[in-house]
Amino acid sequence: FLKRRKSWSRYPPGPTSLPFIGTMLQIDFHNPHLSFTQLSKKYGNVFSLQNCWRNLIVVNGFKAVKEALVQKSEDFADRPYFPIYEHLGFGENSEGVMVARYGQDWKEQRRFAFSTLRNFGMGKKSLAQRVTEEAGFLCSAICSEKGRPFDPHFLINNAVSNVICSLVYGERFDYDNKKFQRLLHLSEQALNEEAGFLPQLLIVVPWLLRIPGVPQRVFRSQKAVLDFTNELVKEHRTTWNPAEKRDFTDAFLQEIEKAKEHAGSSFNDNNLCMVTFDLFSAGTETTSTTLRWALLYLLLHPDIQLPPCPQPYHSCKVHEEIDKVIGRDRSPQMEDQANMPYTNAVIHETQRYGDIVPVGFPHMTYRDTELQGFFIPKGTTVITNLSSVLKDETVWEKPHQFYPEHFLDADGQFVKREAFLPFSAGRRVCLGEQLARMELFLFFTSLLQHFTFRLPECQARPREVGRFTLILAPHPYQIQAVPR
Ligand code: HEM
Repeated sequence: FLKRRKSWSRYPPGPTSLPFIGTMLQIDFHNPHLSFTQLSKKYGNVFSLQNCWRNLIVVNGFKAVKEALVQKSEDFADRPYFPIYEHLGFGENSEGVMVARYGQDWKEQRRFAFSTLRNFGMGKKSLAQRVTEEAGFLCSAICSEKGRPFDPHFLINNAVSNVICSLVYGERFDYDNKKFQRLLHLSEQALNEEAGFLPQLLIVVPWLLRIPGVPQRVFRSQKAVLDFTNELVKEHRTTWNPAEKRDFTDAFLQEIEKAKEHAGSSFNDNNLCMVTFDLFSAGTETTSTTLRWALLYLLLHPDIQLPPCPQPYHSCKVHEEIDKVIGRDRSPQMEDQANMPYTNAVIHETQRYGDIVPVGFPHMTYRDTELQGFFIPKGTTVITNLSSVLKDETVWEKPHQFYPEHFLDADGQFVKREAFLPFSAGRRVCLGEQLARMELFLFFTSLLQHFTFRLPECQARPREVGRFTLILAPHPYQIQAVPR
């Protein structure tokens, strides 16, 4: 008892907690990363909060986040329990991957998802060809805008989503498919439903979810997206031939058959929906938002793309590199990346400065542990403030500027940076990192190979500050794409 009391005396400091509400009023849930960074200035890189009666710690800065996610990876590998997903079917042996507790089911599903996506080409040439083909469809759709101003949001979403849909469901959707367009809008709204004060309150006071109609009202879009993915799985079953593996869903259906004798297996019908829902939702908005930031930064920092260039060093580097390495006639390939340091640096800097998943996804301590000398008991929710790593003032030369040179050495060669953690790190590192990197490079270079992007004259300068809905996305903007 004394040992435990002594440990608790080393619990991280934090703002004073109020009865019932804890420290919830201290956080702007529409900009949590900014609140966390602000609070870290007062309480240090590891500080504590309390959402009602749930203990939380927030980890800030490269050093502390690396200690938690890399050096003590297993101690921080668990996820807190999310009652808000129960209405979607989340439950025992059906936790998907993203919100699954650290244990046998998560290990089994993560291993299966990773190896199956690899078998279907993740990180390989075959998938690169699929992405390039989709980039071709995207460029044609943009071309048909005939240089008029348009919002690139849903075209890009559709293209990116088609890559994950063809891996998971063996299907892609035309850009004028009304049903799919609606789904993409719902997916975006679904992210909105998880941001803000109310979902946080429902996580810590789950009995509020038992009030009839509350989950259906609050998480309406999430449910609609899940229903759509369920429909795709159902359709799949009708054409399924057990001897054939067309895609991820087929591979999962085979595992369900094999696991029929094992009660309690995570390969079951309900979990098939949860896992494919995870891949669909995690694989769409993140990558497409990054591409939208990339285009926006090109518009706001024309020295990277448009002649005449005010600074000779930056001058039109991306276009220049594409013309030199790829030319105008053939499609980009992953092998080109090694010869395109500037383009690669622009993509990396977009991910760093764009800060797309600013507060990561909550972790939970799997056992009692220590971090930066503080005691963190088992079962504490842990927020890794990835934004504070990507903008760590002790690491980056110009943390608050868009500066591709962060990733270039004095000879203009690409350099990796240890604090580049947009995909997080450790055991729960993004499962789709390889796929996302491939998509970012191939979509971005294909777009710039075909077009010069401009800001329409009638439009005010778009905002560089993002809008937080679990991910940090640009406010809607219009562009003009002039064929090259
Ligand atoms: C988890 C970022 C694309 C699937 C995560 C996490 C981050 C992240 C920060 C949380 C890691 C943690 O808990 O510490 C990104 C970014 C992407 C991207 C920035 C694009 C630029 C994708 C894609 C897929 C995907 C394309 C689809 C295959 C997942 C899954 C998890 C995850 C399944 C949960 C991993 C687990 O809990 O074991 N991602 N992601 N992500 N991501 Fe991604």
